[in-house]
Amino acid sequence: MILDPCCGSRMMWFDRANPMTLFGDTRVETLTVTDRSHKADGTRVLQVAPDTRMDFRQMPFADETFRLIAFDPPHLVRAGKKSWLAAKYGKLGTDWRDDLRRGFAECFRVLTTDGVLIFKWNETQVALRDVLALTPHKPLFGHTSGRKGQTHWMTFLKEVK
Ligand SMILES: C[S@@+](CC[C@H](N)C(=O)[O-])C[C@H]1O[C@@H](n2cnc3c(N)ncnc32)[C@H](O)[C@@H]1O
Repeated sequence: MILDPCCGSRMMWFDRANPMTLFGDTRVETLTVTDRSHKADGTRVLQVAPDTRMDFRQMPFADETFRLIAFDPPHLVRAGKKSWLAAKYGKLGTDWRDDLRRGFAECFRVLTTDGVLIFKWNETQVALRDVLALTPHKPLFGHTSGRKGQTHWMTFLKEVK
């Protein structure tokens, strides 16, 4: 079983209804956002419709439930009220360090031993190293993408203690 604990509108998924995956998020929402590449009127409708409403800081699952987790939390700390990026990706609160620390801890708790965590982070506002400092686990390898090279994909393995 795979977990996406903060799935948003599942934009990164090739199959947004992947049957092996449990999709979670705190919100259920239909949004119309600005996207000039999408429709003639420059808008796009996004649906955030998780299988389960949940909080990645306190996951409603037993230890060692998932073999693979894709953790893509909000990466914005500052955003205006009308920000379409914040509407699309969510926004972190003032306690974002604690929220992400708890998110990482919960991911590793619900991962099976030898389970894999894929962590995605865009460092426009917060540097990747500052976020990786919030977990004692170290990524094995990763990949940098995006037009400005600010989106990072990190791979972790939950090792036997
Ligand atoms: C970067 S977006 C995810 C984008 C998604 N991976 C995609 O492909 O579209 C982050 C999501 O985390 C959700 N979120 C924020 N805080 C959360 C929390 N404490 N628990 C679960 N989801 C949360 C937001 O609602 C937002 O949809």
